[in-house]
Amino acid sequence: MVIAIDGPAGAGKSTVARAVAQRLGFHFLDTGAMYRCVALAATESGLPAAEIARDARIALSGRVLLDGRDVTEAIRTPEVSAAASEVSTDQQVRDALVAQQQRLLSDGNWVAEGRDIATVVVPDAAVKVFLTADPQERARRRAVELDADVDTVLYELKRRDEQDEARQHSPLVRASDAVELDTTRLSSDEVVDHIVALAASAGVAR
Ligand code: DC
Repeated sequence: MVIAIDGPAGAGKSTVARAVAQRLGFHFLDTGAMYRCVALAATESGLPAAEIARDARIALSGRVLLDGRDVTEAIRTPEVSAAASEVSTDQQVRDALVAQQQRLLSDGNWVAEGRDIATVVVPDAAVKVFLTADPQERARRRAVELDADVDTVLYELKRRDEQDEARQHSPLVRASDAVELDTTRLSSDEVVDHIVALAASAGVAR
């Protein structure tokens, strides 16, 4: 059973998806962390990203482990964000990571978040949510998280949105049957309540 949460950077996916998983007793999968791991390893090693996506051992239980090394913080830098958006345009990288994601999600109850969960990874997900928020608000949230300048974050976020939406393979797009939730003026608790209610009406949760 999968609850799919997609949307652009800074829409609140990670915080909300994690909290929904906790409320329902589901596992949580942050697929963006996988693209970030591949980007970090490719930058460090100079090896082709597709090779890394096939061979690297990525473990996502709480901390993020890349071939046994804790990269939880290292994958959150602006450089890795940009590189992750770049490697995610490579179809071979996507094929390798999507196959791993599908294997994980085929067993048990999950909340999975990313850009293509409802469209490609699990098109028959029980609940599909597309989170959005004004770019200004998304940048403000990211700037607080990263302790960075809002205008710089806004510029990078818009560039990344454009790349994620314009790419040829699995672009960021709302699944036609996903519920769109604009989180600009909602607290994360309100968003979580909303998704839990959707899950309940889909018969996924109490
Ligand atoms: O969600 P995030 O910011 O951690 O994602 C990092 C990058 O990875 C993002 O720019 C797009 C890409 N990504 C993707 O293409 N497909 C996913 N399912 C998740 C992330």
